[in-house]
Amino acid sequence: MNRILVWDWPVRIGHWLLVGAFALAWLTSESETWRLVHAYAGGAFVGIILFRLLWGVMGTRHARFGSFMRGPDAALGYLKGLLTGRAVHTVGHNPAGGWAIVALLTLGLLTGASGWLIYQDMGGDSVAELHEGLATAMLAVVLLHLAGVVVGSLAHRENLVRAMLTGKKQGNPAEAIDSAKPLVALVMLGWISAIAWWLAR
Ligand code: HEM
Repeated sequence: MNRILVWDWPVRIGHWLLVGAFALAWLTSESETWRLVHAYAGGAFVGIILFRLLWGVMGTRHARFGSFMRGPDAALGYLKGLLTGRAVHTVGHNPAGGWAIVALLTLGLLTGASGWLIYQDMGGDSVAELHEGLATAMLAVVLLHLAGVVVGSLAHRENLVRAMLTGKKQGNPAEAIDSAKPLVALVMLGWISAIAWWLAR
């Protein structure tokens, strides 16, 4: 096993921007003064997710949904393996983490869509309540996600947070990606800015 490149720049930058946008949107959610900042953070959040969905189809090997999305049996098998100390190490996301990722992206899109309706003065109180409920559900999944990252890091003796920063994980060199795709990351930043501006204008 060597340290090989697994996460490209769009995945890594997208992830940490997602964390920042989520935190900013959460911190500004109760204030009228910060409404525009909240709208831009929410808009960027949606832009990142839309790009990630596209990258999940066209992206590098381990970024593709097809490479890490497994059925519920595989996810349960992985979780059972964690309990017995026999969870199988994956170069990309593990099968349980894959489900958390899809839940986060789906909840993120729904939260963004309901937020946009409120911003456009559409939907009334019921949409406002839905938006708050979705954001709270997302926070719950984020906490679960963080617990998963800690448990996965301990179980496989591999710092997954560092891997999301450096892009490198333990693996067979044949499983490495060829390029970190820096130019795609630049295009992504342009796309996120455009979507944030368009949704918050
Ligand atoms: C400080 C807080 C966070 C930390 C330390 C963190 C850490 C990580 C790590 C280590 C991974 C890779 C897991 C693996 O190796 O399989 C990951 C993936 C992911 N995280 Fe987080 N995360 C945080 C917050 C969030 C938040 C707030 C969201 C969304 C609201 C989020 C969404 C995701 C998504 C979508 C992925 C998949 C990345 C991809 O394939 O593009 N994370 N996170």
